Amino acid sequence: MGKKLLMLTGILLSLFVGFQLIPVSRENPPVTLEVRWDSPQTRELAKRACFDCHSNETVWPWYAYIAPVSFGISNHVMEGREKLNFSEWDKTNCDFREVEETITEGEMPLWNYLLMHPEANLTATEKEQLLSGLRATFQQDPPRIP
Ligand code: HEC
Repeated sequence: MGKKLLMLTGILLSLFVGFQLIPVSRENPPVTLEVRWDSPQTRELAKRACFDCHSNETVWPWYAYIAPVSFGISNHVMEGREKLNFSEWDKTNCDFREVEETITEGEMPLWNYLLMHPEANLTATEKEQLLSGLRATFQQDPPRIP
């Protein structure tokens, strides 16, 4: 190996090790009030496709412990919960219109999440079931809008 390459490898390696020392939040705070689901099936679909970023029941994968990937994952979960958190229905959450938009436009779940979570890749039928289930859920238990 050339000297320059060796030095570059050394720099990258120490950066990588240094990254691991930066604290990352991987908290699952207590569920304060879960939304009143219209049916267990809706919850099941939401659990498969949305819970990791929109509930306090996040399943943190092994790569969520390796920086810098962990920074991105932690951010997504924190930002996702901020907008919509099925586990904190006593706090403010977005309205159904936004949910409908993200699902019909295929924005949610995030595409990079789907790469590692094939079970979250809902079929067209499942998406429709989730959407109508969430519509009913939001109707019977409306969120507090910010
Ligand atoms: C990998 C994490 C992740 C998953 C899984 C995920 N979301 Fe999100 N979601 C986010 C993030 C991050 C934001 C906030 C940033 C943004 O607005 O793009 C967000 C924002 C939202 C919003 C607010 C609207 C908006 O555009 O800001 C809605 C509604 C939403 N998600 C619905 C869902 C639904 C429904 C599912 C399941 C089908 C889902 N999300 C799955 C990460 C995720």
